[in-house]
Amino acid sequence: MYFIGVDLGTSAMKLIMMDETGKIWRSVSKEYPNSFPKPGWSEQEPADWYAACISGVRELVEGVDASLVRGLSIAGQMHGLVTLDEHDEVLRPAILWNDGRSGEEVSFLNGEIGRERLVSFTGNIAFAGFTAPKIIWMQKNEPELFSKIKKIMLPKDYLVYRLTGEFVTEPSDASGMLLFDVKNRQWSDDMIAICGIDREWLPQVHESYEVVGEIRGDAASDMGLPSGVKVIAGVGDNAAAAIGMGVTGEGACNISLGTSGTLFISRDRFSLDPGNALHSFAHADGSYHLMGCMLSAASCNKWWMDGIIGTDDYAAEQSGISDDRLGRNPVMFLPYLMGERSPHNDPDARAAFIGMSMDTCRPDMTQAVLEGVAFGVRDMLEAARAAGCDVRTSRICGGGAKSPLWQKIVADVCDLTLEIPECEEGPGMGAAMLSMVGCGVYSDLSEAAASIVRIRETISPDREIVKRYEGKYKTYIKLYPALSNM
Ligand code: XUL
Repeated sequence: MYFIGVDLGTSAMKLIMMDETGKIWRSVSKEYPNSFPKPGWSEQEPADWYAACISGVRELVEGVDASLVRGLSIAGQMHGLVTLDEHDEVLRPAILWNDGRSGEEVSFLNGEIGRERLVSFTGNIAFAGFTAPKIIWMQKNEPELFSKIKKIMLPKDYLVYRLTGEFVTEPSDASGMLLFDVKNRQWSDDMIAICGIDREWLPQVHESYEVVGEIRGDAASDMGLPSGVKVIAGVGDNAAAAIGMGVTGEGACNISLGTSGTLFISRDRFSLDPGNALHSFAHADGSYHLMGCMLSAASCNKWWMDGIIGTDDYAAEQSGISDDRLGRNPVMFLPYLMGERSPHNDPDARAAFIGMSMDTCRPDMTQAVLEGVAFGVRDMLEAARAAGCDVRTSRICGGGAKSPLWQKIVADVCDLTLEIPECEEGPGMGAAMLSMVGCGVYSDLSEAAASIVRIRETISPDREIVKRYEGKYKTYIKLYPALSNM
């Protein structure tokens, strides 16, 4: 039997075909554009996601016995606002998770409505990039389009809708809308009223692992699939990555270094970060998690490598950075290329290099970028520790986590033992595992993880380097407050 896991990412869609033992038979990646129409804005065309999904699945199953495909599940980039009119036409490009246009709406929500009330309605305060502030932005700035809205959905739910005709979502992704009462796993009537929308515009909520329908005939034949392939409700990409890394149960932790950087701590009951730097969201296994999100993580390195120094040989660029340089770099980098979410909640924050001198060389700058992101992860970890989570071990995934040097820097900056799974496909793997649970192969996600996820390597922090980074981190945390009023 085969199960398809789709990771609807920001730079590309990654699709995998897995059997019930966890063996990945095929994987395909399809890129699509991300437009930045104004500084701090970030948009994508939902039609591009759909086209990538159709052609991606077609490529995935080409030449294999597609009648063995049982289920498909999608892990989606979170928070994106997709709006449809009465004819199910997309009203405007989707406004993505890393879009910072809704600063004023965030101030209105956190200020006039008030952080305490928002937390009591949803478990969270407002951050630019969450869906509700973007809905209010649209109402104020695009009233004609807003008046035509008949459906509001998240990116992966748009794909599920087009594939099955079912207008549905699930708690892990709905949590990031600021319209969802996370603790009770249902829409918040208070938030619906505050955002001036209709309850009917929102999808029906299922648990992440539930089967919500089957792929429609036309879509199935376009993808080269037989009829009867089940579609599972799906999952936000960070909860998916956690599942794919085996992170379920109280206190288990995953770090993801993708376009965004996240720290995900699984909890067996609903809990809050009193400082509100971390989000209180639902997990895909029916429980909850705390999560911090940096808006730019591996994307900082991509920006530095591809955009600034013009190389695609990341390994060669990192090869000159030996252990004796770690914790001794005079150059520091603030990773706020798209503003920052956790812990600063500041869409206007900007990146910076600090501490250069005439003898600063290219490897110092490259190292500073990797370290700046690791310090950002440390910021989130400090918030988690302050919220009572004693995290000492974490799994790590995402494109950035493929670099052994970056893994080591994260372990030493955060004083964490890192476990590296055999397969770092994170979200796609989590989505495929979810569809196995939906199709009844495993009774729940913990059982699926116990049978599928295996650890390849453990990286322990190096005491000497941890000490050196401790001093650097003390400097790092002074930089954002010093620069933020410029
Ligand atoms: C999480 C977040 C990002 C996106 C990236 O809150 O905004 O991690 O989900 O796809």
